[in-house]
Amino acid sequence: MLNNKVIVIIGGAGLLGQSFIRAVTEAHGIAICADIVSKEYPADITSKESIQKLIENVKEKYGKIDAVVNSAYPRTKTFGNHFFDVDYEDFCINTNLQLGGAFLIMQQFAKYFKEQGYGNIVNISSIQGVVAPKFETYEGTSMSSPVAYSAIKAGVIHMTKYVAKYLKGSNIRVNCISPGGILDGQNELFLKQYKDVCLNKGMLNNSDLNGSLIYLLSDMSQYVNGQNIVVDDGFSL
Ligand SMILES: NC(=O)c1ccc[n+]([C@@H]2O[C@H](COP(=O)([O-])OP(=O)(O)OC[C@H]3O[C@@H](n4cnc5c(N)ncnc54)[C@H](O)[C@@H]3O)[C@@H](O)[C@H]2O)c1
Repeated sequence: MLNNKVIVIIGGAGLLGQSFIRAVTEAHGIAICADIVSKEYPADITSKESIQKLIENVKEKYGKIDAVVNSAYPRTKTFGNHFFDVDYEDFCINTNLQLGGAFLIMQQFAKYFKEQGYGNIVNISSIQGVVAPKFETYEGTSMSSPVAYSAIKAGVIHMTKYVAKYLKGSNIRVNCISPGGILDGQNELFLKQYKDVCLNKGMLNNSDLNGSLIYLLSDMSQYVNGQNIVVDDGFSL
């Protein structure tokens, strides 16, 4: 479905990013793993110069970029704090990193895609940007969902629509995927409570997102634009 399409995956070394890289490769696309920890394609979503350099590097090597996926997830150590323990500074830093980073990726890639004459941007939001957290799933654990995360992820979904519409007439699509929670060694109590608010599986595997990603990157979704695909086993219902 992605024959010879050059797809830049930012945050490609992460939990979701690694699975996205595999899925793109399996669909016969050319997956570029860009990440702040990557040696071959280093990229920092909070630096305009770094993003411009990434675009130049990929363009030089492959002559084009068909799509970019932003799966980077910069955050501070205290990002997971409960509401009353969140410092104003920490709220602002995380919002700048994640929402500001999403803005920069869209702005810089859209600029390049306009010159190129086409392009495709996929943002990664979350169910926490779609509905309010289900705090009951964290009961009896130290976990919570950060207040900034809800603000950031709702912002990513809405910015997706803004940018899609702003780019009218330019052959550039901008869409978003909002995943539910992804399995990553969480404790049993949380997994059970989380499953109770879902329909069949509960927490998902990272590979459960691949179908939606490949669809959005392929020509099968040519006229899907400004949309948010929720993949959450019914969590948000
Ligand atoms: N894991 C989940 O349960 C889950 C659920 C819903 C949504 N999401 C979203 O999916 C996306 C990816 O999450 P993940 O779980 O794969 O996170 P992760 O921490 O496993 O991976 C994130 C990657 O981003 C890279 N990174 C960090 N700062 C960066 C920067 N400034 N520039 C470029 N790269 C940077 C890291 O090196 C890492 O490889 C995030 O937007 C997250 O909010 C995750």
